[in-house]
Amino acid sequence: MLAKSLAAAVAVAALFGSSCAAPLVAPAKSAVQLVERDRGSDFNVTYSSNYTEHLPRTLIIATGGTIAGSSADNTDTTTYTAGTVGIEQLIVAVPELLNVSNVDGIQFSNIASESISDGMALNLSKLVNEALCSNASKWDAAVITHGTDTLEETAFFIDATLQCDKPVVVVGAMRPSTAIGADGGNNLLSAVTTAVTPASRNRGTLIVLNDRICQALYCQKTQANTVDTFKSPEQGFIGTLLSTKPVYYSTPSQPTFKRVYDLSNVTSLPPVEILIGYQGADLALMDVAVSGGAKGIVIAGVGSGSVSETGKDHVAKAVEQGVPVVRSTKINVGAVPSPAYANTIAAGLLNPVKARRLLQILLALGKSNDEVKQAFEEQLQGFLTLDLKKHY
Ligand SMILES: *[C@@H]1O[C@H](CO)[C@@H](O)[C@H](O)[C@H]1NC(C)=O
Ligand SMILES: *[C@@H]1O[C@H](CO)[C@@H](O)[C@H](O)[C@H]1NC(C)=O
Ligand SMILES: *[C@@H]1O[C@H](CO)[C@@H](O)[C@H](O)[C@H]1NC(C)=O
Ligand SMILES: *[C@@H]1O[C@H](CO)[C@@H](O)[C@H](O)[C@H]1NC(C)=O
Ligand SMILES: *[C@@H]1O[C@H](CO)[C@@H](O)[C@H](O)[C@H]1NC(C)=O
Ligand SMILES: *[C@@H]1O[C@H](CO)[C@@H](O)[C@H](O)[C@H]1NC(C)=O
Repeated sequence: MLAKSLAAAVAVAALFGSSCAAPLVAPAKSAVQLVERDRGSDFNVTYSSNYTEHLPRTLIIATGGTIAGSSADNTDTTTYTAGTVGIEQLIVAVPELLNVSNVDGIQFSNIASESISDGMALNLSKLVNEALCSNASKWDAAVITHGTDTLEETAFFIDATLQCDKPVVVVGAMRPSTAIGADGGNNLLSAVTTAVTPASRNRGTLIVLNDRICQALYCQKTQANTVDTFKSPEQGFIGTLLSTKPVYYSTPSQPTFKRVYDLSNVTSLPPVEILIGYQGADLALMDVAVSGGAKGIVIAGVGSGSVSETGKDHVAKAVEQGVPVVRSTKINVGAVPSPAYANTIAAGLLNPVKARRLLQILLALGKSNDEVKQAFEEQLQGFLTLDLKKHY
């Protein structure tokens, strides 16, 4: 049996010209074959399942990461190489997928997620918008496979820029495909099933890992090593997966703090740097960032975004030069409310990496610093300044 499944894996690897040392092992019973497609047309779809009527269509966009990682040692979950297994092997290793959805696969990139550039993030958003939201769209949903280290940034970015309510699920794995107990197969099947379940619509971009569903705006990586890492500590999971079927705790709703922006005319994202807070941090690096071309700064401040007395001088200098400075918290959980330090912008509930993405979006759209401040602060301020007398 083992020999048979290894033979199948070798056959699969040979079929798709894989060069990686240890490919995902496709079960021997797998009769899955993908149709190789001509590149250059149809969104550069590289592999498709043979079409089954009465099943939805999902576009799987593979970017790399641990879910596509491999190691020569199957106890290795820390020093493996991310982004070595291709989209076709990911799909072929989970034949159950094809009973859930027709799938088309695009190899967008195959890299570790810390190397996804701003230009790639923007291109990915455009690709998902064109594929799902154009009038001619043939897909019901999209699944993005992604490294977990910056997965929440891509998920947030897609959530904030998608022009229709078709489900997008971002998925990854904490163990490479070669590890004992690899979580990629279960996560990928869970993600596709979630993406095509009607009850997943109008909930925003979702992150699915480890049998849990959470909303991109609030979800984040909370542990560097373990499979139970994606959480939204305050807002909670919105659903779970039982036998890979999504179960939702509430009817569909979007996160209160979500706003959507149209980037169809945007061709690049301006550079925005993040500086971290700590005891006595003087934020002198802010001057370096600004003179180095940063168009905005996010401070991952201590507590609810506090800045030291000397730090305030550097903030003032950046603001004088027209560079917006957003204060978030390195705690990653909780709010930074306005208006402490009037010359800065409060990130509200966005953690530093998500605040950075929102600042890039707003600057790319040519918003003034006042508009940027309003976009970041008005939601939370609305709650904090509610005048009950007007309502009773
Ligand atoms: C796809 O379906 C066609 C027609 O049913 C068949 O001829 C072909 O062999 C199938 N291809 C794969 C890769 O399964
Ligand atoms: C397809 O790939 C080519 C070359 O990589 C690229 O120039 C083109 O923009 C891609 N098309 C789509 C729709 O992504
Ligand atoms: C797919 O569904 C068919 C029919 O229900 C079943 O026979 C088959 O075992 C299923 N395949 C997988 C991989 O789940
Ligand atoms: C983004 O897409 C454009 C147009 O296809 C291409 O020219 C550019 O190289 C892409 N950028 C990145 C970083 O991949
Ligand atoms: C897409 O469809 C809508 C509604 O049917 C229509 O108003 C719009 O012009 C169409 N857009 C394109 C690009 O065809
Ligand atoms: C993009 O540019 C076109 C042409 O100038 C314009 O008609 C359209 O409204 C713009 N779209 C957005 C979302 O700004």
